Amino acid sequence: MLKLAVLISGGGSNLQALIAATAEPGFPARIVCVASDTDAPGLAHAEAAGIPTCVVRPGDSGSREEWGQLLAAAIQEHGVGTGPEPGLIVSAGLMRILPAGFVREFSPHLINTHPALLPRFPGAHAVRDALAAGAEETGVTVHIIDEGVDTGPVLRQAALRVVAGESEAELHERIKELERPLLVETVREIAAGELELPAPSPA
Ligand code: GAR
Repeated sequence: MLKLAVLISGGGSNLQALIAATAEPGFPARIVCVASDTDAPGLAHAEAAGIPTCVVRPGDSGSREEWGQLLAAAIQEHGVGTGPEPGLIVSAGLMRILPAGFVREFSPHLINTHPALLPRFPGAHAVRDALAAGAEETGVTVHIIDEGVDTGPVLRQAALRVVAGESEAELHERIKELERPLLVETVREIAAGELELPAPSPA
């Protein structure tokens, strides 16, 4: 059984999808902790499911690297990234760049879901940027985190057509409807050994 740690910053609808899927009999992974950089509303989903949560605030650390070390320790306390089984860390709406030390510690057992078809529109405003660029198509990418910003090896993608006149919020909602099942299925494939995690190329 693959141990998962999920990282969030917001409402946690992807987390909720993972909680529901991993509660199904036969799903080959379970969530052992949910961590956030802030008092994310989505932490309530984990609390309701009896999953341990923690908040590790960058503002309480002297540096980004130190924040990463504290976050790593909070996750490792639950048996992810220690011992013979590496586990998997899933960044599902964490709105911060993970520091290099954290990435080196866990990658390639460290994945992210991003609301665009990478390499197009990396960064924190992917949906807005796709609309601003007049993209006719966008979507979602699940990828391994490397030391760049949304540059790691792509695992899975799903695309949709942009509808003329739709707002950023409307488009993001439609992307999330694609994103949740794609993330759940990617995690299932990794846990079942159907999808190998390639080592990221050096930065
Ligand atoms: C998701 O669409 C995720 O791809 C995005 O935040 C949303 C979180 O939604 N992440 C990024 O934009 C990271 N750059 P959720 O809190 O409802 O799961």
